[in-house]
Amino acid sequence: MTAQLTTRLIPAGRDALKAALRVLRAGGLVAFPTETVYGLGADATNGEAVARLYAAKGRPSFNPLIAHAADADAARRLARFDPAAEALARAFWPGPLTLVLPKAQGCQVSDLATAGLDSIAVRVPAHAVAHDIIAALGGPVVAPSANISGHVSPTSAAHVLADLQGRIDLIVDGGPASVGVESTIVACLDKPTLLRPGGVSRAAIEQAIGRTLVSHGDVIAESGEAPLAPGMLASHYAPRAALRLNARDVKPGEALLAFGAALPSGADGAVTVLNLSATGDPVEAAANLFSHLRALDLAGAARVAVMPIPSDGLGEAINDRLKRAAAPR
Ligand code: TXA
Ligand code: MG
Repeated sequence: MTAQLTTRLIPAGRDALKAALRVLRAGGLVAFPTETVYGLGADATNGEAVARLYAAKGRPSFNPLIAHAADADAARRLARFDPAAEALARAFWPGPLTLVLPKAQGCQVSDLATAGLDSIAVRVPAHAVAHDIIAALGGPVVAPSANISGHVSPTSAAHVLADLQGRIDLIVDGGPASVGVESTIVACLDKPTLLRPGGVSRAAIEQAIGRTLVSHGDVIAESGEAPLAPGMLASHYAPRAALRLNARDVKPGEALLAFGAALPSGADGAVTVLNLSATGDPVEAAANLFSHLRALDLAGAARVAVMPIPSDGLGEAINDRLKRAAAPR
């Protein structure tokens, strides 16, 4: 489904920086080195760019992304820092640490990038190439590891090319990544919690905050739930409205979440109609998914008929999310 692109590979330097900026401003995808692994960057505030990023990685679901900021001040505009988060930012930024924090009011990062959550993962990378690209854009860059979903993270431009050639616009080659494992992820939502071990050791983090970290495993043991992927720890955005999937008509009292131009019977009587993409474009639909679910809640819709969405391309991830959102609670 992803259209074939010509992927350019440019060695890090002034030309690469200019090219990266042009691509990001146009909503395209740029792979660049960070100190941990190569990231696949998109303008975090551009929902369609973020949707293209998920499509390029072939992610079957919308796992939330890390927003990369140029410095701690820029990160503070995205998220709310408690004292533990402040201590960690002072100790390890720029560097291989990601903080999961409450999303700040007015945070411009697209709902798709945070998978509709009220929290956001933020990181200030130390690598000069990553830093310069983010600083030049002047806003947050979301960047998952630059590999096809399910493959190992890339630590060189060649790894990125092998996975993503033809799927992204540009690769900036800055040589091998020095840390080689992903950033450590710590959530400071309640008690500081280790979500993913990585480039900063647990001991170093515990020393900086002066207390022991709750582990991901402890959280699971306490709540008695099955193991969760990192992105699944905070529960995903679930609308208050009850969703009826693959609806071929709209029943009295229902709102309609549409896809495509041909609306089903009963659409005229729908409480509200929001269309994920009137042209049937899965990229546009993905970009609208979480904000439309929120808007339906705000509109007070109690029941929503959701039109069928073809499962090709991003459709698989859209349907995965809709299935979770529709699951009984
Ligand atoms: O080192 C790294 O962190 C690299 C470089 C490119 O910065 N990036 C990276 O991104 O590893 P990614 O997308 O491969 O992994 C991000 C992880 C995912 O497991 C995701 O579930 C988790 O962060 N995550 C993101 N936002 C979250 C949130 N709000 N709550 C919990 N987990 C979150
Ligand atoms: Mg990854």
